[in-house]
Amino acid sequence: KNAVKVGVIGLGTVGQGFVRLFLRESSLVAQRLGFPLELGAVCDRNPEALAALKVPSGCRKTAEAREILSDPEIPLVVELMGGLEPARTFILEAISAGKSVVTANKALLAHHGEEVFGAVARHGVDLGFEASVGGGIPILRTLRESLAGDRILKVSGIINGTCNYILSSMSRDRVDFGTALKEAQRLGYAEADPTFDIDGIDSAHKISILAAMAFGSPVSLSSVPVEGIRHIQPIDLDFGREFGYVLKLLGIASDQGETIDVRVHPCFLPEETSMLAEVDGVFNAIELLGEALGPLLLFGRGAGGDPTATAVMGDVMECARGISHGSRGQVPALGFPFALRVPRPLCALD
Ligand code: HSE
Repeated sequence: KNAVKVGVIGLGTVGQGFVRLFLRESSLVAQRLGFPLELGAVCDRNPEALAALKVPSGCRKTAEAREILSDPEIPLVVELMGGLEPARTFILEAISAGKSVVTANKALLAHHGEEVFGAVARHGVDLGFEASVGGGIPILRTLRESLAGDRILKVSGIINGTCNYILSSMSRDRVDFGTALKEAQRLGYAEADPTFDIDGIDSAHKISILAAMAFGSPVSLSSVPVEGIRHIQPIDLDFGREFGYVLKLLGIASDQGETIDVRVHPCFLPEETSMLAEVDGVFNAIELLGEALGPLLLFGRGAGGDPTATAVMGDVMECARGISHGSRGQVPALGFPFALRVPRPLCALD
């Protein structure tokens, strides 16, 4: 079978991690798929990032994303540049050109999910976005596939690795906020603009996507109450510990019947009885409550180039299967997440 060519736009932490994994595991991937993948082109606006990346001789390096978007030889585009624009325009152009797309862009999906998924449905392509929530944790597939037959009552958890890293370092190692944030940035956990992490915005993006998946209703991001961790001081953590509580930034979404409740804020969790209280460092943990299933906890590395690259790779393989087998737009793992039920408003806060 012919190779499926992949184009990558954005060579930041996740982009580099993905290209490294893609090249390192090419034989394994070809074996598992039954056909090879080929890196057709990589793109970044930063010439240094482009020059520093080692790619095979057949792979084109470009600073111009449209070279990938207009290339009929590349049916699969991986968008890892992040941010709303030009990522939105590029993704919509790729979809209109009949290409499948894999993205880790939670901000884009939280703001423009309906527009993007509308385009996906119209053009009969696939969109993989597992990497947008929880780094390497396969949370979206679990919701969409494993739990497709159950009613989800609640999704909640630690969904920002940077904040969890900062809170753990402050509490455990008595590191100050600024130093812990710098270290999270150095390790490649933080967003390009880290205020998205510490002000809870990144968690809000992710819990909106999770809520949309779990409850089949689009979530209006501007209605989600959000509080971050910028104002937390070591003394807050110390007081909590004295009473047996650990402070964590949580995203919480629950089914309230007529409405859905979606929010982000720091919570004190009881050290003795809460499993989330034990989740430290870059790790994320997401609790699901299914009506028939009961509770389920998914735990793993929620940020960083390598773990997130595995989620991107899984989606790339799934999209490539659709392309190679001529079943694009019908891959169950990548099905349309919204519009399953009637959209429901967010419940008002007391
Ligand atoms: N900045 C994000 C985090 C990256 O810290 O969780 C993963 O989405």
